[in-house]
Amino acid sequence: MSSQLLFNPIKINSLTLPSRVIMGSMHVGLEGEENGLEKLIAFYTERAKNKVGLIVTGGAAVCPEGSGGLHFMSIYNDEDVEYWKPLTKAVHEVGGKIALQLFHAGRYAYQALTGCNVVAPSAIQSPINPDKPHALTAEQVQETIAAFASAAKRAKEAGFDAVEIMGSEGYLINQFISPVTNEREDEWGGSFENRMRFPLEIVKAVRGEVGSAYPIIFRMSGLDLIENSTTEAETLTLAKELEKASVDLLNIGIGWHESKVPTISMKVPRNRFVPVAASIKNRFQFLSLLVIASIILLMQNKSS
Ligand SMILES: Cc1cc2nc3c(=O)[nH]c(=O)nc-3n(C[C@H](O)[C@H](O)[C@H](O)COP(=O)(O)O)c2cc1C
Repeated sequence: MSSQLLFNPIKINSLTLPSRVIMGSMHVGLEGEENGLEKLIAFYTERAKNKVGLIVTGGAAVCPEGSGGLHFMSIYNDEDVEYWKPLTKAVHEVGGKIALQLFHAGRYAYQALTGCNVVAPSAIQSPINPDKPHALTAEQVQETIAAFASAAKRAKEAGFDAVEIMGSEGYLINQFISPVTNEREDEWGGSFENRMRFPLEIVKAVRGEVGSAYPIIFRMSGLDLIENSTTEAETLTLAKELEKASVDLLNIGIGWHESKVPTISMKVPRNRFVPVAASIKNRFQFLSLLVIASIILLMQNKSS
């Protein structure tokens, strides 16, 4: 892609972005500080003023047990709608666009920080967490899907221009998709069709709340970097099914937090994992959805 094209507008569903530069989700921890919201507003508006087409916030927990830690962003209370309005207003005032990331940590949550039981598809402990998770009951699975949907509705009411569903990096949704963390024997586990039911039902429930015109981004794992985890063929099937389920944009994440392979920038060569996003994009030439890679936004919309 030429650098000029990077700064051309692009349409995602009904939303026009001023450029194709997307600031990926990063939990910066400012909200836990004194005057945290004001600091977060200053941080994001600075990026919006400087030609970032879309900012994706750090993860916002869709329910208390899904939180990533102390002072973590949340979107599970009705009060959260009013709380986030000054942020979306400020970004819009400088011409920017901002999406909220809908987040559930699953077995990566710490009981000492959330005050809740740690939950996951199955009671399989993560090597990077001292807490053993409880397997979600079938009823709790439905409640969690509903929590994502209510969170999306609140995000839209708070003025966010889009939502990003966090389905990568080994968090709850990823834990359902992978056979390493999902040993359920009900309709949510076993075959790949069953393991991808959770993300697909979340997308459908979110779409039901936000309407057909609102942009939904799904952050999916392009590569888990975990032994015996999701295969390449399964990853490609998931991408296809997510598109059918009405996702507008795929953001390709790399690696789980417990992976032994470094994935965060400064520890890996620049653009090292872009080919993973490119291969998902190239396998799906017939699709109209867009694909994001870290560093570069890869366009797949034939009209662009
Ligand atoms: C401090 C920090 C916080 C992050 N928080 C999130 C997050 O809340 N949600 C998310 O999807 N990714 C999060 N990430 C991952 C980044 O979005 C990105 O995938 C990662 O940094 C690799 O991309 P890069 O090479 O551009 O840094 C975080 C990364 C860092 C360094």
